[in-house]
Amino acid sequence: MRVLVIGRGGREHAIVWALSKSPKISKLFCAPGNGGIAGLAECVPITELQFEEISSFAKEQAIDLVMVAPDDPLAAGLVDHLESKGIEAFGPRANAAIIEGSKVFMKQLLKKYSIPTATYESFDAYEPALAYLRSQTAPIVIKADGLAAGKGVTVAQTMEEAEAALKDIMVGQVFGASAGASVVIEEFLTGQEMSLLAFVDGSTVRLMVPSQDHKPVFDNDKGPNTGGMGTYSPLPHIPESIVQEALVNIVQPTADAMVAEGRPFKGVLYAGLILTPNGVKTIEFNARFGDPETQVILPRLKTDLLDIFLAINNGTLAEQSIEWSEQAAVCVIVASPGYPGPYPKGLPITGLDQVQDALVFHAGTAVDENGQIVTNGGRVLGITGLGKDIVEARQKAYADADRIHFEGKHYRTDIAMKALK
Ligand code: AMP
Ligand code: GLY
Repeated sequence: MRVLVIGRGGREHAIVWALSKSPKISKLFCAPGNGGIAGLAECVPITELQFEEISSFAKEQAIDLVMVAPDDPLAAGLVDHLESKGIEAFGPRANAAIIEGSKVFMKQLLKKYSIPTATYESFDAYEPALAYLRSQTAPIVIKADGLAAGKGVTVAQTMEEAEAALKDIMVGQVFGASAGASVVIEEFLTGQEMSLLAFVDGSTVRLMVPSQDHKPVFDNDKGPNTGGMGTYSPLPHIPESIVQEALVNIVQPTADAMVAEGRPFKGVLYAGLILTPNGVKTIEFNARFGDPETQVILPRLKTDLLDIFLAINNGTLAEQSIEWSEQAAVCVIVASPGYPGPYPKGLPITGLDQVQDALVFHAGTAVDENGQIVTNGGRVLGITGLGKDIVEARQKAYADADRIHFEGKHYRTDIAMKALK
C-alpha cells in the first residue's frame, strides 16, 4: 500500500515510524513532515489545510490511505474532502471531530448523556458570561470554544485572572473571532490527570495503554502551559480498576453517544481525564492521537498500526488483535529557548549521532541548505527511552537527551516522577 500521513510534529514522526515497520506498506509519504520524518518517508511540501493540493497529490501518487493526524485539518473536514474524491482516509469526519473542535458541543454531549465531567455553563456573549463569572468563586476554569493550539484554557486562581481570560477570549479575540465566539466556564477539579486514548470504529472501543502528559513548562508543574513537555506509560501508580471505570463510564458511553447523535466517531479518540476524589471525570476530548502521548504509546504497540487503521475503516475493530509490550516508555521533550513564548529558529542541532538507546522523534526540526538539522519549532525533539520499568526508561531518555545539543535547549527534569513517589 501507498500511504500518506498528514502533519509535521513529533506525533507524526512516531506514527510514520510505526507505519514504516509495516510489511504491507511499499511507499510512505508525509505532508509536510519534518527533518526527522524525512529519514523514513518522502516529505512533500504541502501543508495541512491545503485540501485541494492534498487530494490532487493523493490521486497522482495512487495513494491507498491518507492518515490525517492533526486537529486542524480534521476539524476543517479533510477526511470528508478526501472521501468526496474517492480517496480512503483515516480519521473522524468533521461532524465527529467537532468533539474536539467545539468545547461547547463536547460539554453539551456529555451533559445530555450523563457522562462525568466538570459542571459548567456556556455563553456566546460577553456580558452574560461576565455576570455569571462574577457569581462564582476562584479557582475557576475559562475555556475558549474553538481550537486554540492548546492555549485556549485558563485555570484561574483568582477572579481577576478569570475576568482577564474571559475578556481576552471574547472581547480581545486573542484566539480569533470564531474560536472565541463562545466560552465554557467550568468548575475547577483536582486530581491526577491521565490521557486515555482509544481506537474507535463507531461502537467498538479498544483502549490504548494509558499515559500521562506534563503540560506546564517547568519542573513541579510550574510556569505556563505548553503542548506537552513529556509523557510516560504505563502509569504504575494508577490501578487498572480506574482505567476500567473510565472505559465503562466515559469512553464507551461517549462513542455510543456519538453514534446516537448520527456522528459516529471513527479514528483515535483521546480522553483527557482527571482522577477526582468523586471519581474519574472528563476534562476534554481530542479527535486524534496526543502529542507527546503518541511518542510513548506507539513504541509499546506490538501490532501493525496499519492493520488497526484498516480495521477501523472496515468496521472490524472488534475482531482485530491489538498487543502491547510490557516495557515502560518515558518521553522527554527538548524545547527551544523561550518556549512556550517566542523562540528563535534555525539553531544547529548536534549530537544526534551520539544517541545510544532512545528513540528520537523530531517535533520541530528542519534540514537547512547545508544538510544540517536545525531547530524549527518550540518543541524540538522528543526523546523516548524504553526499559523494563519507568526508572530504566527515564534513565535512557535523559542520558540521550543530554547527548543532544543546541543553544539554549531546555527540558523538564522530573518527567514520570509522579509514578515514582
Ligand atoms: P485542556 O486543553 O482542556 O486539556 O486543558 C488544559 C489543562 O487545563 C488540562 O490538562 C488541565 O490541567 C487543566 N484543566 C482543564 N479543565 C480543568 C478543570 N475543570 N479543572 C482543573 N483543571 C483543568
Ligand atoms: N498532549 C496533549 C494533546 O495532544 O492535546
